[in-house]
Amino acid sequence: MITNKAIEAFRQIETPFYYYDMALLQQTLQECSKQAGLYGFQVHYAIKANDDPRILAMVRDYGFGVDCVSGGEVKLALDAGFAAEKIVFAGVGKTDREINLALDAGIGCFNVESIPELEVIDALARAKGVQAPVCIRVNPDIDAHTHRYITTGLEENKFGISAWAFDELVAALRAATNIAFKGLHLHIGSQITIMEPFKLECKRALEIVAKFREAGFEVTDLNLGGGLGVDYDYPSLNPVAPFEAWFGTVAENLPVGHGQTVHFEPGRALVAQCGHLISRAVFVKKGKERKFVILDAGMNDLIRPALYGARHYVENLTSRGGKLRYDVVGPICESSDTWGEGLLLPATSRGDLFAICTAGAYGQVMSMRYNQRPFAKAYYSDEILK
Ligand code: LLP
Repeated sequence: MITNKAIEAFRQIETPFYYYDMALLQQTLQECSKQAGLYGFQVHYAIKANDDPRILAMVRDYGFGVDCVSGGEVKLALDAGFAAEKIVFAGVGKTDREINLALDAGIGCFNVESIPELEVIDALARAKGVQAPVCIRVNPDIDAHTHRYITTGLEENKFGISAWAFDELVAALRAATNIAFKGLHLHIGSQITIMEPFKLECKRALEIVAKFREAGFEVTDLNLGGGLGVDYDYPSLNPVAPFEAWFGTVAENLPVGHGQTVHFEPGRALVAQCGHLISRAVFVKKGKERKFVILDAGMNDLIRPALYGARHYVENLTSRGGKLRYDVVGPICESSDTWGEGLLLPATSRGDLFAICTAGAYGQVMSMRYNQRPFAKAYYSDEILK
């Protein structure tokens, strides 16, 4: 929630900037932790969604682990004080350097995405005289009905090992001397707002557990990845993601045995709603038929609309005027640098403050310096509202 007090504080700050509502983050983490705790589920925050130090510190204090996809992320998680054994490490292209770093740190699990990767981890662990804990990322071939750029669980995606390669995988696991097999990892996609794909995921997970058992490998860890979606259309109506439904669906559809642990890797669901990109209207420009509001925040600050055609709720924070239709755009020299067309907003003037909502996940981390623009800074509710 952006309070009037926050808006007053924004007036003194150079735009654009990221504003994090730390109370909402806390509420979200609390809810996730509470719902996961009901079933003994382990949560590993997908650090790729937002690696801001204040956010990491709060996530760490809730006892969550971290899901990483690069050596850089593993190092950042360790530096931020997360326990090594709660770190899981996925990614299709782990380099030797990254694998060695993770082995030296003693991370909890490698989520292995191919047979060649399994062989390399085995060899590097052997050279160090250690056992590498491993979950096999299985491509579940499930359509999560989300954007094609963020669908990861289809046969045609590059992620995970497909069912047809199972026999070869089992042979590689048998040949490995320094792999400690723990179980399986799945991730079916991102921004999933219905529970049906998660039910299918559970069904697929049970089938795979049975196949591993037949082959003589007992699964102790089932990692179902992330993917829970958030409400981009009505962020203030649904500020906290539906963790109860997500975990409840899995608890109902995935009966786990004694000694088995279920893991999750939410990213977006934990941090999206607490983040806002705050901007100023630089100009209001009249076209022949349309009116444009040109903001000082652009696609370099938040690339999701330009890259995925994503919609973020846009709010004029300072005008109380009658409603008019505007195309709201950014300043970058690209036509895709657009926040929304024909948006109904209070009559807008130069200098009005705007919030681009639900920007906490895959916002600041994906920003860039295109057009020689500086990186937007981060401000936190508990600091600027003091
Ligand atoms: N685990 C794995 C293996 C993943 O690949 C991802 C996200 C996650 C967990 C976290 O997913 P989440 O809970 O955040 O949906 N940049 C895109 C999203 C890319 C997601 C990539 N993988 C966006 O802005 O929508």
